[in-house]
Amino acid sequence: MSEILKKKVAEHALKYVPKDTIIGIGSGTTIRYFIEALKSIRFSILGAVSSSVKSSNFLKRINIKLYNLNEISKLEIYIDSADEINHNLEMIKGGGGALTQEKIISSVSKKFICIVDESKFVKKLGSFPLPIEVIPISLNYVSRELIKLGGHPKHRKNFVTDNGNFIIDVFHLNFDFPKKLEKFINNISGVVTVGLFSFRKADVLLVCGRKYFKVVY
Ligand code: A5P
Repeated sequence: MSEILKKKVAEHALKYVPKDTIIGIGSGTTIRYFIEALKSIRFSILGAVSSSVKSSNFLKRINIKLYNLNEISKLEIYIDSADEINHNLEMIKGGGGALTQEKIISSVSKKFICIVDESKFVKKLGSFPLPIEVIPISLNYVSRELIKLGGHPKHRKNFVTDNGNFIIDVFHLNFDFPKKLEKFINNISGVVTVGLFSFRKADVLLVCGRKYFKVVY
């Protein structure tokens, strides 16, 4: 069922794509549906900046021109999904491991449009473990610091990010003060990116449920 909802929300997101612009594109299974849908309007956009090797490959397959973020100073929109998003539009991202590029590209974008199926729209963040990208030699040190914070860190086995780094998935963290938590984790040496998006939140959220479709600003 959630695949149908992901597809629906992805197709709906086409309405938010401005003509003659370069758009920022996220990663993951929902975005895969969005890229599929983009095929139908590919002549009306100039191209895309992609957040992962996987998304780049899908975009290349449908002949969408790829730009390097360094060639561009601003993007009108960034479209991506999330692993969890709350009513304040703060998110947990990085389930697919592309959180670093996702955070960078969304920071350069004027508008972050987040598209999810209803299972990801939550009252409270934290059921989904928080992904953190770390420099490989810092794995144990960062894990110890996260334990001090009350978390249960787990190294994502057999996984290396597009940047050659590791991912730690952290369970049982307290998300009562998301900005404080994001700042604190960002400050641990060895952390490249924390998959908590509380500073760069979404601007628009599209949620597709079985019985409703919601737009949240
Ligand atoms: C990729 O690193 C993630 O941030 C994804 O955007 C997020 O995990 C949502 O992915 P799915 O659409 O596959 O659930």
